[in-house]
Amino acid sequence: MRILLLTHAFNSLTQRLYVELLRCGHVLSVEFDVNDAVTEEAVALFRPQLVIAPFLKRAIPESVWRNTLCWIVHPGPRGDRGPSALDWAILDGETHWGVTLLQAEAEMDAGPVWATREFPLRAAAKGSLYRREVTDAAVACVLEALERLADPGFRPEPLAENPGRGRLRPAMRQADRTIDWSRDDTASVLRKIRSADGVPGLRDRIEGRELYLYDAHPEGTLTGTPGGMIAHDGHAICRATLDGAVWIGHMRERGEDLPHDLAGLKLPAVQVLGDVLRGVPERSGDRREIRYEEVDGVGWLYFDFYNGAMSSERCRRLLAAWREALRRDTRVLVLAGGGDFWSNGLHLHVIESNADPAEASWDNIQAMDDLCETIIETRDRLTVAAMSGNAGAGGVFLALAADLVWAAPGVVLNPHYKNMGNLYGSEYWTYLLPRRVGDQTGDIMANRLPLGAPEARAAGLIDDCFGADRDDFLHQAQERAAALVQDPDYAARLADKRARRERDERERPLARYREDELSHMQLNFYGFDPSYHVARYNFVYRVAHSRTPLHLALHRRKGWRPPDDEVAVS
Ligand code: COA
Repeated sequence: MRILLLTHAFNSLTQRLYVELLRCGHVLSVEFDVNDAVTEEAVALFRPQLVIAPFLKRAIPESVWRNTLCWIVHPGPRGDRGPSALDWAILDGETHWGVTLLQAEAEMDAGPVWATREFPLRAAAKGSLYRREVTDAAVACVLEALERLADPGFRPEPLAENPGRGRLRPAMRQADRTIDWSRDDTASVLRKIRSADGVPGLRDRIEGRELYLYDAHPEGTLTGTPGGMIAHDGHAICRATLDGAVWIGHMRERGEDLPHDLAGLKLPAVQVLGDVLRGVPERSGDRREIRYEEVDGVGWLYFDFYNGAMSSERCRRLLAAWREALRRDTRVLVLAGGGDFWSNGLHLHVIESNADPAEASWDNIQAMDDLCETIIETRDRLTVAAMSGNAGAGGVFLALAADLVWAAPGVVLNPHYKNMGNLYGSEYWTYLLPRRVGDQTGDIMANRLPLGAPEARAAGLIDDCFGADRDDFLHQAQERAAALVQDPDYAARLADKRARRERDERERPLARYREDELSHMQLNFYGFDPSYHVARYNFVYRVAHSRTPLHLALHRRKGWRPPDDEVAVS
């Protein structure tokens, strides 16, 4: 089918649907919801048989849904309506939640139901639930609805006939989730912060400053006067609640002199609070961004960095942890990333917050390269990148630094840099990518499109993709890593790896690759063309799109002709 994805942004859910639908053989194009006229134009150009709206903030124009079948992904169970579905579910402590695929009609979220799925609601931030459970359920709904569409006997069920357990709820306001630090226990504080994480964040006041809070985790041991700041660990702060304490990893400052209404940058809490923390003791607690464990002779290094963003400081900490792990007597070392993201490369918010963003970018890429180099140069054991979360830009190439790269089936990879203002990229990609994908290198870098894990495996970008879901992937990855340790060919594999590295080094030293990549990056950071700085600014301040880029909008490319032989389904 010819399917138009009409969306506010090409976010993770939209990207996942994009790769899943392409896999099914559909012809896809994407249009950002800029305004009604632009949407109407896109529909006229592409003549879709179906419009899917995975992530919309406004209603689809009547002129579109009256003439073309339109499906809306709503992140709530049957009957749930309104723009803050997940926020309410988390705040209200629901134990189960759902996703419903509705047909667009005059009343928002009230059209007939094509498919619906329910799932247990994990105790997690809104963004995490959205990227995992909601995305998996949305894909299942869309694929099921496509089968139903092909069945002439199927009619979507009007909500009135089966209203479900959901209801219409208003947009959540900050007042609905304000924390009362003198009365709220840990569970309520966590629910409130998580209901607003990643957008818009929970508004709070600290020392007269208005701040949005994110990235909250329970603390099991430390306690103090409710509301008091009782510790920091160099990144996050720990605040006492009525019955315990919570760690808050990230904050965003609200300030009138800041450039946008979603003002301020989401940064490590300690960086935002600065001097306010004078006198607050530094202590480690139950929150660990980097965690090492050993299972069956395999070292597992997890790095659960918020939003997958890797600042210089995080890169250096991870490098130190890698070196520490190399001191252990293991035969296989696995880089396991985090549950939501594996890695998204340079920390663009921290860079933006620096008085000299070019210098900060330079420092960050050096730290990433040092990390990649050390992984590539690990010669005394086999290394694996196990990706249960998505990765983008430098984060993908960091994974390719390992000997073996495995991913869960729902993982989406963006192995390219150009979307960030034509950034050239480093992380030894000029060494790591061609040796895996050969002459597809140019296309992968230039197309700027996401790849699903199965497609990445087919292209040779990764070695394998397995498991029914994330948990099953990690379980199977443990078995496979343990099998590597026991592999009778282990010594031969290791010898091959060393020989290959030595041969590659003789042909072209790693240092040359780095030098060459960084000469391009130097121009990106310090040169006359400000594209990277502009793109980074737009990204971190979430500047709304004013048009859909041509690599996504097939219908806007030169040479695209609307087919005149098919009739739209209505
Ligand atoms: N640095 C800082 N923050 C980042 C980040 C990065 N490299 N990549 C993503 N984030 C943040 C986003 O700002 C967003 O913040 P929010 O919590 O306020 O919502 C959050 O992570 C999720 O990002 P989003 O773009 O909504 O996620 P997605 O899953 O829809 O898209 C990517 C994933 C990778 C396509 C997209 O995030 C991206 O292009 N990131 C930049 C990659 C990059 O160019 N890195 C620098 C070069 S190495």
